[in-house]
Amino acid sequence: QTTKPPRSLISILELSNQELSSLVERAAYHKTQYKSGKISSQVSPSLFGKVAALLFTKRSTRTRISSEGAAVYFGAHPMFLGKDDIQLGVNESFYDTTKVISSMTSCIFARVDKHSQIQELAQHSTVPIINSLCDRFHPLQAITDILTIREAFGFTKGLKLAWVGDSNNVINDLAIAAIRSGINVSIAIPQGIEMDEEIISKGQQIAQETDTVLEVTHDPKKAVKDANVLVTDTFVSMGQEAESKAKLAQFQGFQISSDLASGAAPDWKFMHCLPRHKEEVTDEVFYSDRSLVFPEAENRLYAAIAALEGFVINEGRLV
Ligand code: CP
Ligand code: NVA
Repeated sequence: QTTKPPRSLISILELSNQELSSLVERAAYHKTQYKSGKISSQVSPSLFGKVAALLFTKRSTRTRISSEGAAVYFGAHPMFLGKDDIQLGVNESFYDTTKVISSMTSCIFARVDKHSQIQELAQHSTVPIINSLCDRFHPLQAITDILTIREAFGFTKGLKLAWVGDSNNVINDLAIAAIRSGINVSIAIPQGIEMDEEIISKGQQIAQETDTVLEVTHDPKKAVKDANVLVTDTFVSMGQEAESKAKLAQFQGFQISSDLASGAAPDWKFMHCLPRHKEEVTDEVFYSDRSLVFPEAENRLYAAIAALEGFVINEGRLV
């Protein structure tokens, strides 16, 4: 007998506008709870006695800390399963690993290489999968970033976000999350690099519904013009190390600096999911008052808490 797999968090594409907004709202709520220092008395330890697995085949600072923290917040035991800790890939397949991990845990935060591996996990797992980064998506980062923008500006509708960087997992989910939140998006990527077609086609469809614009250009200055939020990420994502030299050569003129930002809106802020390298943004901008990077990193915790609550405790009923 086959049962329907539980609802997993795979990408922002699979959420409705209202579901995304609700996850951001819950993240903000839990932030207040957490900061009040009264977590143990006010939050039900709904996952007490359960295990939250972290199946990570790539390195991580923020995602690991925030998902372990989220598990602890609800009383679960976080179990980190790195690529050198378990049999996966050497002695055991993804399918067998998924069956075994999900039989003994309440959820799996999964950071893997290929999007197809996240899909395979979600298809065969008996517990929800929380995509903790694959080559196409990074939904926890996008939830975090909308929360961070909302905190910085007090609202999201009508803002403009400029991405100056690579076509990758982070912008794929961030573009959809921004459009769903009423934020106009202008993406500058180098000549010779293409955006994910599904992101552009579905993004433009959603943009019509939310009365926003999603545009792609090869000109960083055009993207940055009148933007309130300037965002970038590494130019060489994990798994692309072999192409590093050739890729970096494509990003001439893509470093975010005060000079590039001179065309932005007067209230512009800078964001980066981290880890950061100097070619992406000058120290002057990165460590300035404009930079939201450290509050943004901290907000990863509250996004992970909201995801655990929504997909594991509430079984995918987000609104
Ligand atoms: N932003 C982010 O996902 O960071 P880590 O790779 O350190 O988890
Ligand atoms: N695009 C980056 C994000 C890291 C958090 C990567 O995939 O390596």
